[in-house]
Amino acid sequence: MKKFISINKKINKFNKIINVDGDKSISIRSLIFASLATGKSKIKNLLESEDVLNAVNCLKRLGIKINKKDNIYIINGAGINNFKYKKKITLNAGNSGTLARLLLSTLINSPFKIKLKGDQSLSKRDFGRITDPLTNLGAQFYPKNKKKLPLIIKQSSKEKKNLFYENKGSAQVKSAIMIAALQKQSKTKIIAKQSRNHTENFFKFLKIPIKIKKTKKNDNITVSGVKKFKSFNYNIPSDISSSLFFIALTILTKDSQIKIKNVNVNSTRLGSIEILKRMGVKFEIKNTKNYKGEKISDIKVSSPKIIKSINCPTKYNSSAIDEFLLIFLIAAKAKGISYFKDIAELDQKESPRLKICSEFLTMIGIKNYCTPNSLKIKGNPNLQLKGSYIMRDYLKDHRIFMMSTIAALTLGGDWKIYDPQSAKTSFPSFLKLIKRLGGEFKSK
Ligand code: S3P
Repeated sequence: MKKFISINKKINKFNKIINVDGDKSISIRSLIFASLATGKSKIKNLLESEDVLNAVNCLKRLGIKINKKDNIYIINGAGINNFKYKKKITLNAGNSGTLARLLLSTLINSPFKIKLKGDQSLSKRDFGRITDPLTNLGAQFYPKNKKKLPLIIKQSSKEKKNLFYENKGSAQVKSAIMIAALQKQSKTKIIAKQSRNHTENFFKFLKIPIKIKKTKKNDNITVSGVKKFKSFNYNIPSDISSSLFFIALTILTKDSQIKIKNVNVNSTRLGSIEILKRMGVKFEIKNTKNYKGEKISDIKVSSPKIIKSINCPTKYNSSAIDEFLLIFLIAAKAKGISYFKDIAELDQKESPRLKICSEFLTMIGIKNYCTPNSLKIKGNPNLQLKGSYIMRDYLKDHRIFMMSTIAALTLGGDWKIYDPQSAKTSFPSFLKLIKRLGGEFKSK
């Protein structure tokens, strides 16, 4: 296993057309819905990253038959409340919060105790946000009152509540409540701060009854009791979050251009694009197609002459949540001071990203002021690095690894970035694509 990559040369200008890997959120959801469906589903272009392959393995342990043939995953759905698995199994969600939280909701009616564990990063993350609503929907967790993995789940006899408020803008929490509600007899209502809506889109596309009433800030969602649904075919589009690494690379490399094909441009995922537009970046979004409730386009971007600073409207926070580390890096080269607020959720990710990004900016000589909920960045459009920089001890957070690689390739200096295999969590082709664009690194 390679320990680190070293980079000591900036990438030359480029003008290329690329494809990035499949969408992680949709890949994991497609597997879970296919397992709950009745019949054989076929999923094309599934993201073959560690998070998603862990989903495949967990579902197989739960008795779901999954095979791969010619780039298509075939899933034999068990149907709702019909999983057949052995007593006392342990599932491993690896690094994935989405997988862990959605799996627990899938197991809400488990007659046996099932243990769920994760890696070092996942075991540090908050699961109280999921055990609370799922307990109210009729699950029991052991050890009692524990809010971190490993946890054991089993069905309890009682449902205590059928109205939930989700106020963090967490799609994982909202989706977990929806998937649990789908397996319950009674109606469930969720008043959720707006967040990515792929689960809602699956409900609609699979014709599972759902009511969604939008208010200015919230989505009021009603899921009716147990509804069986049929298997389906799905072709996974490319991930906007993965695309953003190459969009950032282009923005930070003078005279460059990139076109990324077939990207999911669902508006609940486009916060980073809106923020970057306000920072002076121009995008062309073309060939838009609707696909099973999602929207797919080609995205073209060129490096801007100057990058403007931003006082970032909080309305974009949820729809840019995974992209903030790249926006911070771009803000480091903006003219003026950028300000991001209400972003405490960043410290709830695979690593404490707000804290790590602030330390990263300080390391590269960018003045910044960080509170547990906000970050101010004093940009320097002439930023040119000359020293040596080492990135390690970041809990192998895939997005921190990839963001550091983009920084090293665009800002200069001598870099050692540890744990390159972390990119495989969400974006296995990352380093291959960097090479294709002319980026040079040595793996050691
Ligand atoms: C995800 C939701 C977000 C995001 C994560 C994927 C999802 O997490 O950060 O990468 O697929 O629902 P939260 O729901 O915790 O904000």
